[in-house]
Amino acid sequence: MHLPVKNRRSPTIRPGCLRILWVVLPSIVLLAGCSGRQSALSPAGQSAQQIAVLFWWMVAGAALIWLIVIGLAFYAAYIRRGRHSRRQSALLIIGGGTVFPTIVLIGLLAYGLALIPSLMSPAPPGSLRIRVVGEQWWWRVHYEGANGESVPVANEIHLPVGEPVQFQLEAADVIHSFWIPSLAGKVDMIPGRINQLSLLPTKVGVYRGVCAEYCGASHALMNFDVVVEERAEFDAWIAHQADPANTPDSPDAAQGSSLFAKNGCGACHAVRGTSANGVVGPDLTHVGSRLSIGASLLPNEENEFHRWIEHTDTVKPEVIMPAYSMLPEEDLQAIAAYLEGLE
Ligand code: CUA
Repeated sequence: MHLPVKNRRSPTIRPGCLRILWVVLPSIVLLAGCSGRQSALSPAGQSAQQIAVLFWWMVAGAALIWLIVIGLAFYAAYIRRGRHSRRQSALLIIGGGTVFPTIVLIGLLAYGLALIPSLMSPAPPGSLRIRVVGEQWWWRVHYEGANGESVPVANEIHLPVGEPVQFQLEAADVIHSFWIPSLAGKVDMIPGRINQLSLLPTKVGVYRGVCAEYCGASHALMNFDVVVEERAEFDAWIAHQADPANTPDSPDAAQGSSLFAKNGCGACHAVRGTSANGVVGPDLTHVGSRLSIGASLLPNEENEFHRWIEHTDTVKPEVIMPAYSMLPEEDLQAIAAYLEGLE
């Protein structure tokens, strides 16, 4: 039986090629949207910038190699069909399959390894030092002073723009991973170890940090806000965070304050300046000043505090804090008003 043979010199565009276009074009459009507060492709820090450049070199290299391979396939399938000499085929396989990838991979490896010293070098002595502990599922943060003093915060990190910072990363329970994609690469937090990460934010803005290592049911709900600001704003912020809590400024909040004490919330949470001095959960001294609550999970609003306290078990599955759904509505409302007012 004879199959009809096409004219070798007249390639036709088949529906398959159009389908490839349909995949490639939207991908380019999607990549163009990789900006915003949680994107390694929209760097706002020195390390993130270097990592982004490495990424784009790899994308460009991969795209070029893809074009060469597809070009060869097109050539073989449409332009010069039929048998090629054994010698040519062997050269193509050895050259394209072994020599070429080896050269490309060695080049990329050398480039990647050359970045490591600057990505890993510690911040100069005297730089801002922040200790962060990964917990299930939130972030314990301590700003360490030069004289051993420490300001506790939770789930929010402020950094002065253009200044190096040294993070000391630990884990309380299981392995977590500390990652602020816009500022730097990720570093694992391992129980029993202290890992170091230095970074230098270069652009003022609000960014998002995430846990990048699966750590249990609410791994995806363990995030934090990062505020990069001018030095003067940072100084004002850290001075305020070091202060004790303000007194409640409404009857509702005052009622919430006594309910907070009566229901034993202070056994787990600290509100500095009051009898609440627990260390199991996040420090709540200035929780009302944060951008979000529940580890960058809910907006910082009174009704969200209410929702959180009443339904911790469904808002953040398997979280240690029990749900206080047994409390009367007005008590929940008063505690929410108290916490929201802790600015
Ligand atoms: Cu912590 Cu994932």
